[in-house]
Amino acid sequence: MTAKTLPVLRDELQHCRNCDLYKFATQAVPGEGKKKARIVFVGEQPGDEEDKTGRPFVGPAGRLFDRALDEAGIDRSEAFVTNAVKHFKFEERGKRRIHKKPSAGEIKACRPWLEAELVIIRPQVLVCLGATAAQSVFGPDYRVTRERGKIVEHAWAPRATSTIHPSAILRAPGEQRHLEFERFVNDLRLVRAAS
Ligand code: URA
Repeated sequence: MTAKTLPVLRDELQHCRNCDLYKFATQAVPGEGKKKARIVFVGEQPGDEEDKTGRPFVGPAGRLFDRALDEAGIDRSEAFVTNAVKHFKFEERGKRRIHKKPSAGEIKACRPWLEAELVIIRPQVLVCLGATAAQSVFGPDYRVTRERGKIVEHAWAPRATSTIHPSAILRAPGEQRHLEFERFVNDLRLVRAAS
């Protein structure tokens, strides 16, 4: 995909038929933030609230992410926040829509959109939040458990790294949640220092 502008990309994304997820989602959710952002964060895929509002990281995981960014001294409005997969994948259980992990095929199908965003922004630091983003950016053999926090060079950014997904912190039990949050904030402090 050739480099365009973010608004053009946003419009084109709504017509994406690279996989079947568009059939069930309300809309595609493009990345959001500063065109000249030094830091780009990549999540997994929109959740229920993101699907309805069309904006990334505005639901429960997004609120936790905002708190962590705040503690780490990163201004979200100076960054760019996006997802590896742009449509919400879910399973209906009664009235609820339960998040389903995107497949390797869906991650691959959506990769050109992520690449197009990154080619326009050209950030200094690219941060993968969780395994799906890391798989899209670094390939299927990459393991966040092994590589978390390590900074490497990447075609899309001079410095690229990974940490856990904010949802994993929400799922952590009791006191563990607090510890995981602190560890996450520490990772974000390193990101800030690298930017
Ligand atoms: N989780 C993600 O990975 N991305 C969002 O936009 C929201 C929740």
